Amino acid sequence: MKGLVLSGGKGTRLRPLTHTRAKQLIPIAGKPNLFYAVEDLVRSGITDIGVVISPETGEEVKSALGDGQRFGARFTYILQEAPLGIAHAVRTARPFLQNDPFVLYLGDNLLSGGIEHLVEEYRANRPEAIVLLTPVEDPRAFGVAVLDERGQVMRLVEKPQDPPSNLALVGVYLFGPRVHAVIENLKPSARGEYEITEAIQGLLDQGMPVVAHQVRGYWKDTGKPEDLLDGNRLVLSQLSRCIQGELSSAEVVGEVVVEAGAKVIRSTVRGPAYIGPGAVVEDGFIGPYTAIGKNAKVVSSEVEYSILMDEAEVYHLPYRLDSSILGQGVVVDGRGHNRRHTLQLVLGDRSRVKL
Ligand code: DAU
Repeated sequence: MKGLVLSGGKGTRLRPLTHTRAKQLIPIAGKPNLFYAVEDLVRSGITDIGVVISPETGEEVKSALGDGQRFGARFTYILQEAPLGIAHAVRTARPFLQNDPFVLYLGDNLLSGGIEHLVEEYRANRPEAIVLLTPVEDPRAFGVAVLDERGQVMRLVEKPQDPPSNLALVGVYLFGPRVHAVIENLKPSARGEYEITEAIQGLLDQGMPVVAHQVRGYWKDTGKPEDLLDGNRLVLSQLSRCIQGELSSAEVVGEVVVEAGAKVIRSTVRGPAYIGPGAVVEDGFIGPYTAIGKNAKVVSSEVEYSILMDEAEVYHLPYRLDSSILGQGVVVDGRGHNRRHTLQLVLGDRSRVKL
């Protein structure tokens, strides 16, 4: 069985962060989203992995992932010239996939329950497709499934205005080779994309077996800033305490990772929280569900429920930084203010804010 990880697309809902970075490379609890997808595949024994990349961010994705050795995998990069849809990405990858069964894993999806059980089920029963479902509050942003009373998939529809159920399609799918013939005959949807949801509907229309499973644990599509923060929270909630960096007059409470080379000085860190290698927290407070990237700095400031990417720096903030995402190299300098209110920021790489 092969893996196909999608790391193309536009990432428009995550601008300005995606002006300078592939959305799948935004760090969640200190690690790019894409890495979790690859690790999930490798854990289930899938090591021959195709990675679909775009002309805009392909090189960045390649240099972040490498050839696969560090993951115990072998990567084949597949260039999709334009983001014409998930089914189009599968069609572009056909020379790599050939007629082998494969797991399609969207590179901006986070899943805690693993996929081993799905791979086992595929091997045992060889259905044409396995889809993963989970109930969501607002299904209009997703593919939506209708099941019959025995739990069989009856119908699938992509981003319906008037959702027929609350069961969203998760971005992890298993396919046999028959999906390719259906994709060949697909027409672009109203939003101009070749939809994988319609390809699976095509399999159903031909009477092919499509199996549905409910998600185990959590699932997150990190396509929007608030989802990135929630994804960060979910991953951090599974953290185990590990202090390798230096603590000096510091209070570090609960599930906290302080990576080697990081320093926490005269500060409080309340877990779950992640402090990356070389980061410095001085006279500060790091609240729960916060991840601080490599060589980032938090000086005389309070940060909670936020992501600070590598080399981001905050100084003397007059407010507690809350629900914020700071891109790589961002500097927020608040020297000269009194601490009073909270600030909510989404800043792209190399932004500068002077308060
Ligand atoms: O996350 C689950 C949802 O993913 C499903 O419920 C939907 O049925 C499915 O269509 C998809 O919807 P999204 O609108 O969230 O897909 P998005 O455009 O964000 O693309 C998902 C990933 O695939 C993302 O990492 C970018 C990549 N991609 C996307 C397109 C359209 C490509 O590599 N190439 C593409 O052409």
